[in-house]
Amino acid sequence: MNNPLAKFMTANGRIKEDFLDQLAFNEKMAELGRLSAGVIHELNTPLSVIVSAAQMILREEDLPDFVKEMVERINLEAQRLSQYTRGVLSFARIEGEGAAEADVNQVLREVMAFLNYEAQKRSITVIEKMDYHLPSVVADGNRLKQIFINLIMNALQAMENGGTLTLRTLALDDRAVEVLITDTGPGIPSETIAHIFDPFYTTKEPGEGTGLGLFVTRNLVELLGGRIEVESAAGKGTTFTIIFPLS
Ligand SMILES: Nc1ncnc2c1ncn2[C@@H]1O[C@H](COP(=O)(O)OP(=O)(O)OP(=O)(O)O)[C@@H](O)[C@H]1O
Ligand SMILES: [Mg+2]
Repeated sequence: MNNPLAKFMTANGRIKEDFLDQLAFNEKMAELGRLSAGVIHELNTPLSVIVSAAQMILREEDLPDFVKEMVERINLEAQRLSQYTRGVLSFARIEGEGAAEADVNQVLREVMAFLNYEAQKRSITVIEKMDYHLPSVVADGNRLKQIFINLIMNALQAMENGGTLTLRTLALDDRAVEVLITDTGPGIPSETIAHIFDPFYTTKEPGEGTGLGLFVTRNLVELLGGRIEVESAAGKGTTFTIIFPLS
């Protein structure tokens, strides 16, 4: 068996501790990234004060050569540092700050446009029941997309021979936003439903699923302060509900 994830697992199929350490390490690195973005931001203000002070001195006439030379150096090096910090800051922003306001309906529609081909090729009907007065949630749009892609892809894969996918959004008394993703697939047997969020739990053929989709999805939802629930009836289908708090 040539499982690319074998290196993360022990012989009896458990996750290796150092993989969990790696996940914790990644979290720490992300935290470090956020911290250093903050530090660098703090550096920028004094740096620009240094640059403008140096430039004011340089405007003086009759500066002794030595002073002129030293202040030019200060000016140049401070500018270099300031350019560097701006570069690091814009890089940090690519990682997503998580503070943006996101329109859940809009993100869902974008994801569905992206997955439309996957629905069409399985003859799946897509129904949208959006609440048009949905307040925006505080979340990084890319994280939201990842959550919806994982859940919708699972729903489509559960309906290989066609069915109906329903995407529903609703506002809960201005306290939370709820997203319901319902499929008419075979459902999840009650014996296994407790395991679907476990890392590496999959019923798909080797090479078709890693079993990490729902594990990652739940982590992303919890990072946003939300929670995810599942309800399934054999032969009828499955509904995943994601609840995003508003404050
Ligand atoms: N909508 C659904 N209907 C029926 N079963 C589902 C549904 N969503 C998830 N499952 C079950 O949960 C398992 C785990 O899902 P998960 O998304 O974590 O992994 P995966 O889809 O198998 O692999 P990957 O997401 O890495 O491609 C699936 O293999 C499937 O058995
Ligand atoms: Mg999946």
